[in-house]
Amino acid sequence: MEVIILPSPAAASQEAARIFEKQIQQKPTSVLGLATGSTPLGTYRELVERHRSGAIDFSRVTTFNLDEYVGLPGTHPQSYRAFMDLNLFSQINAHPGRTHVPNGMAVDIPTHCAEYEDAIRRAGGIDVQLLGIGSDGHIGFNEPSSSLSSRTRLKTLTPQTIADNARFFGSADDVPRHVITMGVGTIMEATHVVVLAIGQGKASAVAAMVEGPITADVPASILQMHRKCTLILDEPAAQSLKRQTYYRWVYDHKPQWQRI
Ligand code: GLP
Repeated sequence: MEVIILPSPAAASQEAARIFEKQIQQKPTSVLGLATGSTPLGTYRELVERHRSGAIDFSRVTTFNLDEYVGLPGTHPQSYRAFMDLNLFSQINAHPGRTHVPNGMAVDIPTHCAEYEDAIRRAGGIDVQLLGIGSDGHIGFNEPSSSLSSRTRLKTLTPQTIADNARFFGSADDVPRHVITMGVGTIMEATHVVVLAIGQGKASAVAAMVEGPITADVPASILQMHRKCTLILDEPAAQSLKRQTYYRWVYDHKPQWQRI
């Protein structure tokens, strides 16, 4: 895993955006895995700016989002479909028919999940997957104890995640209890995984992910087994890492040809 520690949230967002920009420039038909939450907002703003300046053309890109709340239609302001439309899709030239978010209103959820997996496969698999991390170490909505080989499916949120996400709803009582999420196994099949973590609130989850044992108790820890995972942090998110000095040293000595 490559650990990149940067001085500010803006620098971290720019680094993530640079990876996506390079990916789309090299492969205009790229398949992108996208995430929601507060963390990727800066990256999406960067991508919108880069699109406006003419650096990124999204017209041939396909996207798959990680997850969605069950029971919220895409028109609900707190649905992840609405989040993506507002913060990214409405501001770039991605083809609406090629932006995929799980349908929280699906009547037959297992069939919908299997179809979501098929759609990812038919698109050729995910080239770059953007991830945030939950304060309990979840990725997507794969809560602690999720199978590390799980596929897209229904999950029940933990009280901690409900409390964390209550800020987007009126109260914790308004946060749906169930979600559809890509599985840990689905995420692991992406060619490149880019994890972004910002702020002190993520420091212990980040340390467990990078330097703790691989365990379903911290679903993000399975990324230690991924062939190409880039973790981008600001200083507060990195503060509990034991090997900080080494990660900085590696980054400072990165050969020019490996730099994006
Ligand atoms: C939600 C999302 C995750 C996200 C996490 C962290 O639970 N399903 O994909 O990584 O929250 O969110 P935030 O970036 O707001 O801290």
